[in-house]
Amino acid sequence: MKILGIETSCDETAAAIVAGGRKIISNVVASSSDFFQKYGGVVPEIAARKQVEYMIPVLTQAMLGFTKDDIDAIAVTIGPGLIGSLLVGVETAKTLALSWNKPIIPVNHVIAHMYANFITNNDGKNVVPVKTRIYINNSLDSRLPASNRRSGRGNDNKIEFPAISLVVSGGHTELYFMKNEKELTWLGGTLDDAAGEAFDKTARLLGFGNRGGKAIEVTAKEFNPKKKLGLILPRPMMHDESLNFSFSGLKTAVVREWKKHEQKNKTLINEFAHEIEEAITDVLVAKTIKAAQQYHAKSLLVSGGVAANSHLREKFNQQFTTLRLHSGRAHNLQLFVPARELCTDNAVSIAACAYYLGKPQAWKTITAVPDLSVE
Ligand code: KG4
Ligand code: ZN
Repeated sequence: MKILGIETSCDETAAAIVAGGRKIISNVVASSSDFFQKYGGVVPEIAARKQVEYMIPVLTQAMLGFTKDDIDAIAVTIGPGLIGSLLVGVETAKTLALSWNKPIIPVNHVIAHMYANFITNNDGKNVVPVKTRIYINNSLDSRLPASNRRSGRGNDNKIEFPAISLVVSGGHTELYFMKNEKELTWLGGTLDDAAGEAFDKTARLLGFGNRGGKAIEVTAKEFNPKKKLGLILPRPMMHDESLNFSFSGLKTAVVREWKKHEQKNKTLINEFAHEIEEAITDVLVAKTIKAAQQYHAKSLLVSGGVAANSHLREKFNQQFTTLRLHSGRAHNLQLFVPARELCTDNAVSIAACAYYLGKPQAWKTITAVPDLSVE
């Protein structure tokens, strides 16, 4: 079964074909993120206009070499997200469903993120083809690449259940219990800011532009412990009983500490970036491992834009090694994190999710739901 996925919840315009919920046939992502560097955040009106402009070229690229007869269903993100952006994808999907006479499957963007972990190659290994990424700028045609299929790398183990799934994105930090591929229970989430939001807001303070998580990661790597001034930030709710998170206190602490320094030199910025990254990743890893132990998970799935962070990936790996050494559960607990290009927004996850959870609906009943619940 081949599903064409469409994703337009924020500042990406993406389309992908996924076979059997696991194999990527094509994967195209256009991002207008560069436009928002000077604003320090996404401007919804501009994002939606760019999506209108790019939806058809991206779709055409994803369908290269295929016709409507190769597609069994259309999956589309209906929420949560920006209303103007969501409408572009939703109305495009409805138009295709009507004119091609195909079923349409509404997808929850946040839940879809975790299905990036289900992508495998023909040999059953989790292999993730590299996406075609289009950075939207002034010239459309010169930036559309010739080919939309390439191979990459990924995880190579089968996901065993029960599993714990952490979704960490710009707007969400959620923990789920997965009884199997289709049955999910929400365990907890952030009470205020999401982890990605904490990265983005503190990055802005440090002088970085829109979606500053990546900038924090790069800058944190330049931190020199020998020049350490001794900044220590809080790890909110790290040791409390619940499986909830809270990151707004961290942002407040960063503002307070930042104001204490008159000279904002590179050494200081490096140390702030390093400590911000440490604080956020410490909390994410501690809470997720706690959930995995509490629910006797056999697999742990991490996904969403923040899962692209190298330090978070390393920290999870280290914790797993320690856990295995101490518990002797070497063969019982596996960690899954998608290739970076499938952590940030894409349509592969949407098509894969639709395959596992999809409930086809009549196109007339599909609407964009900006505040769609993730619980
Ligand atoms: O999943 P995503 O692409 O979009 C949403 O659904 O929100 O996640 C975007 C978030 C942003 O907050 C961005 O700063 C963060 O993911 N992010 C990162 C990294 N790459 C993206 N955060 C930390 N380190 C990264 N390398
Ligand atoms: Zn996302």
